[in-house]
Amino acid sequence: MNPEDNRSVAFFERQFRQQAERGDYTLNSFEQAVLPFLTGEVLDLGCGLGNLSLAAAARGCRVHALDLSPTAVADLARRATQAGLPVQVEQADLCGWRAERRYDCVVCIGLLMFFAPEQATLALESIAEAVRPGGIAAVNVLIEGTTFMDMFDPNHYHLFGEMEVEAAFPGWHLRYARTESYPAPGGTEKRFRTVVMRRPAP
Ligand SMILES: C[S@@+](CC[C@H](N)C(=O)[O-])C[C@H]1O[C@@H](n2cnc3c(N)ncnc32)[C@H](O)[C@@H]1O
Repeated sequence: MNPEDNRSVAFFERQFRQQAERGDYTLNSFEQAVLPFLTGEVLDLGCGLGNLSLAAAARGCRVHALDLSPTAVADLARRATQAGLPVQVEQADLCGWRAERRYDCVVCIGLLMFFAPEQATLALESIAEAVRPGGIAAVNVLIEGTTFMDMFDPNHYHLFGEMEVEAAFPGWHLRYARTESYPAPGGTEKRFRTVVMRRPAP
């Protein structure tokens, strides 16, 4: 898909350009929460400006980072090279993505709600498949109760049920789970669920 045709990506393009101009590269609270769980080879799906990818690489991880936003991908590649950190960055449309290999950790912060419901469910399955035994899946999504809709394509989004993410990892060990609500423009609200699950080791 052309990034310009994707309303969500167009929304973030504008935001990322402004952040890059300001040099605003702060880790958001979800990234801060999952960072301590990351080790080894990390896949960062929907990496955005890649603050988490760079922070994980600075802690010794080798990171593969994917996003559809041209601004995000170019800016992260530049910063990774400048810092000499092992972050491989690629532009990719992740709707319908299937893993070609496994990682120690798969991170997906703030991406899956931009897929249609069926694609969002399939993406959770793909994430589970991409995690090695003993490894980590860290997922953050918007959940039901969210009323801020500006960044959604009206025909192409999914507000998850509060327990929907952990339910997609049956038999895995829950390491972290948190629901948070934040006020959004126009008196609306964003409700997030962040979950870190460990796949049982053999
Ligand atoms: C809320 S931002 C999260 C970025 C980053 N993970 C963070 O926590 O700051 C959502 C990201 O999903 C990306 N995105 C949305 N739809 C996508 C798609 N179909 N394929 C790849 N990336 C997509 C956007 O470009 C944006 O970077």
